[in-house]
Amino acid sequence: MSAIHPSPFARYLLAKRSVDDRALNRNVYDALLAQLPNVNAPLRTLEIGCGVGTMLERIVRWGMLQERRIDYLGIDNDAGNIAAATAPDAPNLTARFEVADFYTFAELPAHQSHYDLVIAHAVLDLFDLDRALPLVRALLRPGGLGWFTINFDGATIFEPPLEGDPNDALNTAMLAAYHATMDARTIDGAPAGASATGRRLLSALPRAGLPVLAAGASDWVVFPCNGAYPDDEQAFLEAILGFFAHSLDGAAGVSPAARNQWLTQRHAQIARAELSYIAHQLDFLVARPAEVNS
Ligand SMILES: C[S@@+](CC[C@H](N)C(=O)[O-])C[C@H]1O[C@@H](n2cnc3c(N)ncnc32)[C@H](O)[C@@H]1O
Repeated sequence: MSAIHPSPFARYLLAKRSVDDRALNRNVYDALLAQLPNVNAPLRTLEIGCGVGTMLERIVRWGMLQERRIDYLGIDNDAGNIAAATAPDAPNLTARFEVADFYTFAELPAHQSHYDLVIAHAVLDLFDLDRALPLVRALLRPGGLGWFTINFDGATIFEPPLEGDPNDALNTAMLAAYHATMDARTIDGAPAGASATGRRLLSALPRAGLPVLAAGASDWVVFPCNGAYPDDEQAFLEAILGFFAHSLDGAAGVSPAARNQWLTQRHAQIARAELSYIAHQLDFLVARPAEVNS
């Protein structure tokens, strides 16, 4: 039997685990634990855009199942991710992964008001919030919770500065052009994500009927330690530069020569274990208000 080799994107998601572990906002996570119902029935949990299942592995590792049972469904519209997805072997867990488009899944009558918990990790910044959030709300039962983490919020920082880049002009142009590609992204002609998603959620969530119970920063902070990057974080940084190269191929705002100069220097900084990277992000805990009986 031949081994399944994860795709480059799946490898990126695996390399991202340790970065996310550090970044996730513990106040928001603690608020989630405090709000989860203490009932005997398994917690019906949906993860949207679950990738290869790293969040499920994390919530088991972090002990969320110690006092409760979880019936988990992870959906992702990328069949390669779902093929590479794995669930940990845990006594209080039943888990399934399914290839599904969120928008199609969320419209199905059987899924309405069904979930106690909906998780979206590094996902909402790819969606049109005004379209997606009412659908997420409808998936939750009244009183159900949403844990929406790692929502990019418009700030990317690389250190140290580039050589021969007075006033940081090239670097600033690259970052602005990269953020602009997030704002311009469409899928099937419809808007798909924005670079300021984190802060926009502060108003978009209540507007969609999902009051915010907790919010906080979940910045990625990647840096070399004792001359090396921990875990697989060198591969994570290389993947981030790959996203820059791909997104800015032919994009307005920077010439191909300037883009290549920026990429070459940043890759060299990684190879010398010099590059540090920060992405500003926000986490949220929300609830669908319980219905009041009249
Ligand atoms: C940045 S990745 C995050 C994956 C995973 N949550 C993690 O952090 O490891 C975003 C994921 O959302 C999935 N995705 C994007 N649009 C989707 C949609 N409309 N329906 C379902 N999944 C979607 C992508 O395939 C991808 O796996």
